[in-house]
Amino acid sequence: MLKTIFNFLVLFAVFSLICFAVFLFYSKNNDLLFFTDPHHLVNTKNKTSLNIEKTTAVPEFHQNRTAMPAASGRPLEPCPDIPPNLQEVLYVEFRTNRTLEDVRQQVGPLLQQGGRYKPANCVAKQKRSPGLFRKHRPSLTTRLGESDPRYGVAIIIPFRNRYDHLSHWLHYLHPILIRQQLDYSVYVINQEGDGVFNRAKLMNIGHTEALKEYDYECFVFSDIDLVPLNDRNLYRCSDKPRHLSVAVDKFNFLLPYNNIFGGVTALSREQFLKVNGFSNTFWGWGGEDDDLYQRIVFRGMSISRPDSVIGRYKMIKHGRDLHNDRNPNNVQKLNETPQTIDRDGLNSLSYTVRKIRKDLLYTFITVDVQTTAGYGRVGGGSGMYSCVSAVVSSVHLYRVSSEQMS
Ligand code: BGC
Repeated sequence: MLKTIFNFLVLFAVFSLICFAVFLFYSKNNDLLFFTDPHHLVNTKNKTSLNIEKTTAVPEFHQNRTAMPAASGRPLEPCPDIPPNLQEVLYVEFRTNRTLEDVRQQVGPLLQQGGRYKPANCVAKQKRSPGLFRKHRPSLTTRLGESDPRYGVAIIIPFRNRYDHLSHWLHYLHPILIRQQLDYSVYVINQEGDGVFNRAKLMNIGHTEALKEYDYECFVFSDIDLVPLNDRNLYRCSDKPRHLSVAVDKFNFLLPYNNIFGGVTALSREQFLKVNGFSNTFWGWGGEDDDLYQRIVFRGMSISRPDSVIGRYKMIKHGRDLHNDRNPNNVQKLNETPQTIDRDGLNSLSYTVRKIRKDLLYTFITVDVQTTAGYGRVGGGSGMYSCVSAVVSSVHLYRVSSEQMS
């Protein structure tokens, strides 16, 4: 009898153990099913593979959820010193009808109002590294620290009534500047009325107005008729004021004279302030860029240039603009730079903004430059000055000197 009771208890104990084991087994499976639920949320497409993916489903889900904010919150890396998509030598053709609307359709989708662009995947540089594109250069990454990627580039274009040139310029320059991975905006500074043109004052106004909008660190001053033939000519600033339009087709791809600083130039905010900007008193054609060069030298700086392969430009052919004749007085003024630099420039700039229009391709600022009577004697390019200038131009065709090349 006792033996029967003992056997019964043993059987009961074994049965209980089996029940307990079965209970545990099902509880465990339920846990697994519970943890795979989130996986159903992220992967409902392929139900046949669900079982196989069970064990990885939980970490994947959590990774996805946590990785996204971390990735988007991470600060962008600086753009590379040498932008990766440059084409180098460019084909440029002006003998075609090209309207602003054509350009708007081509490049507009990449831009923000005001002809503004900024690379999406890296922080743009406004400053060139010394020796960029030189042969046998050291590794690019080691020189990253030399650039200050914080601020943008303002491109300033003095303008009056040259809409066909503007279409060509925008058609070529926007894609180039985008490939150069710049954070930039284009400012077209339009002189109101038909008074004598003042290129230098328009540059000063562009600089002042651009700084009201954004903390630009670099200013590229460009004539509307100059398009680069090599996109390695970066529209960034350097340690020195930089002359970019080195080899223009109009001058047989040579410098007309060694100290020329016209066409397209790039100055950092600091460099431009140091020389008090351009003089405001160069009315009519000629001399204002020579005066700027003298200001740079007077302030103890020198200029840099790309070599004549990278610095090639094509100029749009055109006649002399109305009311922008060569002014013989401007040559005399070049003797006065040391006396005028402190009192004539950004610190004496006076003008009135008539209208600011934001286009997708540019910011168009129409200004009254307050043409004063009495600067007078703006002649037609005849007489002694023209003779001297012609001789200078034909004799002094310089190649870029090696100390300026970088
Ligand atoms: C003028 C400059 C001009 C240069 C090239 C010089 O005679 O003074 O203003 O940029 O010629 O055309």
